[in-house]
Amino acid sequence: MKEEVKKVEQEALNALKEVSDLAGIRALKSRFLGRNGILTGLLRKISRLPPEERPETGRLANEVKKRLEQAFGKALQAFEAGREETPADVLDVTLPGRPLAMGRVHPITQVSHTICQIFQRLGFEIVEGPDVELDYYNFEALNIPRDHPARDMQDTFYISENTVLRTHTSPIQVRVMESQPPPVRIIAPGKAYRVDSDVSHTPMFHQVEGLMVQENISFGDLKGILTTFVHQIFDEETSLRFRPSFFPFTEPSAEVDILCVICRGKGCRVCSHTGWLEVLGAGMVHPAVFEMIGYDTDRYTGFAFGMGIERIAMLKYGIEDIRKFYENDLRFLEQF
Ligand code: DAH
Repeated sequence: MKEEVKKVEQEALNALKEVSDLAGIRALKSRFLGRNGILTGLLRKISRLPPEERPETGRLANEVKKRLEQAFGKALQAFEAGREETPADVLDVTLPGRPLAMGRVHPITQVSHTICQIFQRLGFEIVEGPDVELDYYNFEALNIPRDHPARDMQDTFYISENTVLRTHTSPIQVRVMESQPPPVRIIAPGKAYRVDSDVSHTPMFHQVEGLMVQENISFGDLKGILTTFVHQIFDEETSLRFRPSFFPFTEPSAEVDILCVICRGKGCRVCSHTGWLEVLGAGMVHPAVFEMIGYDTDRYTGFAFGMGIERIAMLKYGIEDIRKFYENDLRFLEQF
């Protein structure tokens, strides 16, 4: 038994020399000195030895136990002292991570994409133009000369005498027609700016402009395209109504109403109890516009239309205050 105790001590000390990591030292300590450890097992057996052998064997075993405890203690201490602190010492690496907040596409951008996709499927090409625009493209070339009363329809932000923040996306039609001959079939989304602010107006808002020019384009084509669009962005039950109106750059001009998407024509607060909602301006391109660009007015006709993206988004999602889009309140934005 005494031999066995000595052998165990030697074995433990040899094994200790071989390990170099904390977990290894701890495992070894428990293998020899733990509750079910090898030395612990031997100590238990001492009581079963013949009485004359017990005192000496017991003393030896206790000495070995003490020496091993010291050896393990020293090894652990040396290990702790010589070691850099690892992240695992200061934080619990097994905790689940905090989820990263995901960004998302703004509802106005989403609706703008949806509108453009519908027109793309109808063969329209997406184009863009500058937000800071020349007076010429924003007004003059659209048949709105200086001092024309129609300029009052749009409260303009002037950058300089000849430069404005565009008040609509219509100047893009002019830029496109200037740069290419017919056929033209474009859809132009973008920001527009007007000095205006209340529950249904923000100084910056979004519009989509559409234009189609080639031979034999009629008002019937305009009705067909816009009807298809409204049925796709809302649904097939949303009927349209073309109301005579005026825009300097179209003749004839129309405003397009859709059956109220909230009350389906019964009359409610959103449609001011009329059953209809105005969503679009449109018309046949005015010959004066074609003449300024240099298109042959005998050969070509075309239609144009424009709509507010916020307005479409508000109707689609039942939002009553346009300013919600620009408050950047995540509780609002995260619903889309
Ligand atoms: N530009 C007009 C606006 O901002 C909308 C519009 C009306 C555009 C008729 C058009 C059009 O192209 O034909 O109110």
